[in-house]
Amino acid sequence: MIENNVKNGMRVEKGLRHIAFIMDGNGRWAKKRGMPRTLGHKEGVKTFESIANYCAEIGLEAVTVYAFSTENWKRPKDEVNALMGLVEQYLDDFSKKVNEMSVELHMIGDMTVFPLSLQEKIAKVEKLSLGKPCKLCVAFNYGGRDEIVHACNALIAQGKQHVTAEDLCAALYTADIPDPDLIVRTGGEMRLSNFLLWQAAYSEFYATDKLWPDMKPEDVDAAIEAFYKRSRRFGGI
Ligand code: IPE
Ligand code: IPE
Ligand code: MG
Repeated sequence: MIENNVKNGMRVEKGLRHIAFIMDGNGRWAKKRGMPRTLGHKEGVKTFESIANYCAEIGLEAVTVYAFSTENWKRPKDEVNALMGLVEQYLDDFSKKVNEMSVELHMIGDMTVFPLSLQEKIAKVEKLSLGKPCKLCVAFNYGGRDEIVHACNALIAQGKQHVTAEDLCAALYTADIPDPDLIVRTGGEMRLSNFLLWQAAYSEFYATDKLWPDMKPEDVDAAIEAFYKRSRRFGGI
């Protein structure tokens, strides 16, 4: 554990403001135990809550988790329904304990496909959590390509004839969030799977074979230690 950071209430060291997690491996975690995949997702939510709290505790400015991609609709209906139910449950739990939470919730992705009641619940919880020290972005019905297309259409609707990179950044779901310095993927795959395509331009990538429900704060520390050993040149020398 990064004791000093926690004890001194310090921010994590310079250069690390935002970690994004691709929470992969819930299904395999359940399968290994002879359980249905949905139980893996349920366990995955517990892990997500503990990892998000830890990230806030060590002083990160932002943490993002990939919870449901625009491609995950291809999964069996039962599994999709279970994932939707878990998000609703998470939002309900969040609003009940908002005072003890140290994260400001931002749902990123295309929310317009969801029933109005869910969209309203999301907006309510986001508003309740405003002003908390760490921004927690939950990528839900999120796709990097979809986000860029959505941003382009928003700029066209504003009447823009010419756009700059700054205009585009401001039209992304992540407008007020710094780019991730570090992207951590659990479950062993070495791909982005349509996650933060624009924002990941210079993110450091860290993959672990650990399945998401097995992820512990110590594993976050290991990723952070690896991050500090990297040389980030951003195209310079
Ligand atoms: C969770 O892991 C990620 C989500 C899409 C919710 P998976 O459900 O992809 O687990 P694996 O990769 O099949 O093990
Ligand atoms: C990425 O995991 C999406 C989320 C973690 C929500 P997937 O399991 O959907 O990715 P692929 O299909 O292995 O690329
Ligand atoms: Mg997967």
